[in-house]
Amino acid sequence: MIICSLKSEVGNHINNDLLLGKTIGLVPTMGSLHNGHLSLIESAVKMCDKVWVSIFVNPTQFNNKSDLKKYPYDLKKDIELIKNISEKIYVFAPKTKEMYEDEIKHKNYDFQGVDSELEGKYRKNHFNGVGTIVSKLFFLFKPTKAFFGEKDFQQTQVIQKLIEIENHKTQLVICPTVREKNGLAMSSRNSLLSDELKEKASIIYETLLHLKSNFKTQEFNALINECVNKIDSNNCFKTEYFEIVNSISLKKLNSFSEKNSHRAFVSVLVDNVRLIDNILLN
Ligand code: PAF
Repeated sequence: MIICSLKSEVGNHINNDLLLGKTIGLVPTMGSLHNGHLSLIESAVKMCDKVWVSIFVNPTQFNNKSDLKKYPYDLKKDIELIKNISEKIYVFAPKTKEMYEDEIKHKNYDFQGVDSELEGKYRKNHFNGVGTIVSKLFFLFKPTKAFFGEKDFQQTQVIQKLIEIENHKTQLVICPTVREKNGLAMSSRNSLLSDELKEKASIIYETLLHLKSNFKTQEFNALINECVNKIDSNNCFKTEYFEIVNSISLKKLNSFSEKNSHRAFVSVLVDNVRLIDNILLN
């Protein structure tokens, strides 16, 4: 499997493939790959001639230094996991300097408000950081399609705005959330939890399912309070936000209306590890 760490190497491959008319899939990741990533990679392999997996822990999207420091990274393990999936797969694993030179800074984007709701309230400039690195990757790879997980639904909406702002020809492909047997959404951060806490964290998806079954008939506030209380009754669990929002604007909704599409989002600190999840309600 070809592993590149320099943009110039990638550029040569991309130019050749574009000349040959090949479709290019990009799966941007921060490494610590799990089955959620593997399902993105498998979709990309099905839909594209060539698949680039980028592995880069992007410093500008972390508003919290200790979060960045403890973010798991093991390139060898990641390569082992994907090297036999398909010959179409290439890896780009650059150093920070290769992506940012001497200026480790995010750009400031106008994502028309989708970045300021939910995660945006708790992680200042997080989406500017995501936009900055994904923009660099899109200009480098000129991907035909780029693959992102529904678990980070707000991120997918920010990327869609980025595509429009910068006029990328890339099609965004959103792949369904992959879950552990107990319903916990797969995330690189799960590896920071003890087995016991991972088991208990099933409560997050259970409350989302409970909400989905009841949101048309029950008052939103009461229902959400019930969900938050269920989650926070576990030791070490603290819900950061739990909201029902308009699926498109991501603005908070206080009551059900047939004319809206609703989506519920939750963020929980479990022993100080941030877990997020969401579900389409209707
Ligand atoms: O979802 C992620 O892992 C990251 O936000 C991304 C898209 C790879 C950008 O660093």
